[in-house]
Amino acid sequence: MVSAREKGPILPGATIGVLGSGQLGRMFAIAARRMGYRVHTLSPDADTPTGQVADHEVEASYDDLDAVREFARRVDVITFEFENVPAATVEAAAQIVPVRPSGDVLHTTQHRLREKCFLRAHGFPVTEFRHVRSRDELLSGLREVGLPAVLKTAGYGYDGKGQTKISSPADIDRAWRALGGQEAILEAFVDFEREVSVVAARGLDGSFAHYGAIENEHRHHILDLSIAPARIEAKVAREAVEISRAVLEELKVVGVMCVEFFLARDMRLLVNELAPRPHNSGHFTFDACLTSQFEQQLRAVCGLPLGSTEQLRPAAMANILGDLWENGEPLWAAACAFPNVKLHLYGKLEARRGRKMGHLTALAADVETARNDVLAARRCLCAQKT
Ligand SMILES: Nc1ncnc2c1ncn2[C@@H]1O[C@H](COP(=O)(O)OP(=O)(O)O)[C@@H](O)[C@H]1O
Ligand SMILES: [Mg+2]
Repeated sequence: MVSAREKGPILPGATIGVLGSGQLGRMFAIAARRMGYRVHTLSPDADTPTGQVADHEVEASYDDLDAVREFARRVDVITFEFENVPAATVEAAAQIVPVRPSGDVLHTTQHRLREKCFLRAHGFPVTEFRHVRSRDELLSGLREVGLPAVLKTAGYGYDGKGQTKISSPADIDRAWRALGGQEAILEAFVDFEREVSVVAARGLDGSFAHYGAIENEHRHHILDLSIAPARIEAKVAREAVEISRAVLEELKVVGVMCVEFFLARDMRLLVNELAPRPHNSGHFTFDACLTSQFEQQLRAVCGLPLGSTEQLRPAAMANILGDLWENGEPLWAAACAFPNVKLHLYGKLEARRGRKMGHLTALAADVETARNDVLAARRCLCAQKT
């Protein structure tokens, strides 16, 4: 068989298959279509954020391997925007077309415990953690890692779902019940100075590109605000990039990956988690960088040279959650009155609490101004509340 590498890059005009259909796939599809590619998406839903932009939308369960094979036969390469795709789905697709990043990368990163074990085994800094399969293991784990701690389901978590903080012994029963018998990981709580992430890409030829350290603020465990570049010492930012480079290299990622970090109060970096795809904290790159994280993903999975990640202006990104619809449709024109703020909406049909509906990006001469402007623009969206 001729390998994809020998055949050369997958060029404009080809069709990219995306597993998953959310906003990450939508922005990827926008970047891909801009460069003349066609996009097909597969997920269990219809009229999705990705499907609205793609050439073709397939509504099928990830477990429907016949549908997955049929999907694979009609595309030139497959990538993901959602990493919790079953291994059997990836295997079925990989027998027909290249899947990038590989099923191995997905296997490691879709399971928090496997991911943390991988990181620790390769000498990457992580917080203390224990495997929890029973109430006894939870109790012994708590004795070892101490309080406060965070209990997380091992699989299928995102945006803080499946996580409970245990601050005192009184929280233990509630946390255990919330788990409902699922396999879990118990982590020592990190009293961090701030959170940062590095969005980076590794090409088919092993080349590496990154967008520097990004500063992230979460609310209720969901990303709320990102600022780029992060307001941290240059030495720490360089270290975050070097750790990320080593992680991508170790995993032999082809595509974009985000490495999330805690910056502890003693300025030590701890890897929190990995996302094997474009990431919410990299959304600012769409407006602020020569090559967005979505175009970079496209270039990587097609075997093209990576593009320049140069950031043209300091930027801040604020998420728009479904909560903003509480008093009716947000006042879009009010946010558009900020000439340096860009509005992104994902075309989701229903606004629910905590659901990511869109985001705003502000560009300015410095990150403080960008942060102030993006927050002011977001406040204007729900001005009718007051
Ligand atoms: N061990 C921890 N110590 C302190 N905060 C944590 C810890 N684990 C998670 N958090 C907080 O919850 C957020 C979401 O957790 P994360 O593990 O990244 O899961 P998700 O997959 O939901 O993004 C983190 O960005 C951080 O703010
Ligand atoms: Mg996270």
